[in-house]
Amino acid sequence: MFKKLFRQLSKDMGIDLGTTNTLVYVKDKGLIINEPSIVALNNRTDQILAVGEEAQRMIGKAPAYISVTRPIIAGIISDFEVTEKMIKHFIDRVHRESNSLLPRPRVIIGIPLDVTEVERKAVEDATMGAGGSEVYLVEQPMAAAIGARMPIQEPIGNMIVQLGGGTTEVAVISLGGIVTFTSLKHGGLKLDQNIIQYIRENFNLLLGERTAEDVKKNLGNVFLEGASKEQKVRGRDLYTGLPREVDVSAAQIKEAIIGDIRELIEHIRDTLEKTPPELVAEIYQKGIILSGGGALLGGLDKLIAKELKIPVKVTDDPLTSVVRGTGLIMEDFDNLKDILLPPAGDMIN
Ligand SMILES: Nc1ncnc2c1ncn2[C@@H]1O[C@H](COP(=O)(O)OP(=O)(O)OP(=O)(O)O)[C@@H](O)[C@H]1O
Ligand SMILES: [Mg+2]
Repeated sequence: MFKKLFRQLSKDMGIDLGTTNTLVYVKDKGLIINEPSIVALNNRTDQILAVGEEAQRMIGKAPAYISVTRPIIAGIISDFEVTEKMIKHFIDRVHRESNSLLPRPRVIIGIPLDVTEVERKAVEDATMGAGGSEVYLVEQPMAAAIGARMPIQEPIGNMIVQLGGGTTEVAVISLGGIVTFTSLKHGGLKLDQNIIQYIRENFNLLLGERTAEDVKKNLGNVFLEGASKEQKVRGRDLYTGLPREVDVSAAQIKEAIIGDIRELIEHIRDTLEKTPPELVAEIYQKGIILSGGGALLGGLDKLIAKELKIPVKVTDDPLTSVVRGTGLIMEDFDNLKDILLPPAGDMIN
């Protein structure tokens, strides 16, 4: 019966509740929210002051009574109440922008692989508490593969590597299910930390997180050949405590992050080794798809292809593939509902 109802409602939504970014896709409208998963709270009143970009601008600048936090860590809810408030803020915004009194939306939401039942239940409860009428969960790499238009329902080996800010997931999908996978509880944010550590050790300079991320995006290239670009970065001198600027090269950034990237390649190799041979043969032919923001790291596709001798392609618009996948499930619910996860058990009873 819910299938019918599901189809009738027009403001149902898909949410990618990411460690770094939250995206919302609304049925018949498309992607309408794409904001950092950051919330600013007034500690005295517990009121939300800002969400998303507006909250991000407050990082490092807020007085003591305002806390600016990421309620999602490594892809799972670390602060339940703040997450619920953040989801509610986004759902309310969708409703406000559609200018009408709407029934509570049904929500499809992406979650990492390998989460516990308690963690799943937390996502369901936070979404219901935020105003959802029903919640369906889908594994993040499955949603990403659907968003990337991979033929996941065919008896074919589909390998996707989903590189988020706080998670990294390698999955082989066939016949609408995940056959083998590796799930890591770190991602792009850790590369930023590697850069901060490298600059501290080599230049005695402390970089802010946003500066480190900018340098990674501008200079990061793990398949460097020949001359390397340089960029000035500004941080705080660890001896004098004063601001100082240094020239950093792409080769140095590569040195800072290559260890984690080599580890990633070993995880892809291990996952292939666990995968049945027929599927592996198809993956070697069809190649691996990279998705998530980390897929944009310079040269990552080329390095994986070279090391594993498999074709590798970055999917179009990798930052939105998970949420577009949830949207496609919503638009084609009857056909794709079987890939949704069963609801987490009721933990209280
Ligand atoms: N051009 C780029 N080069 C390297 N990394 C990038 C680039 N663009 C974005 N990223 C990284 O991608 C990450 C964000 O990706 P994404 O939005 O897919 O993650 P998320 O969904 O929020 O996190 P998760 O899925 O782990 O919960 C950040 O760490 C960001 O620094
Ligand atoms: Mg993600």
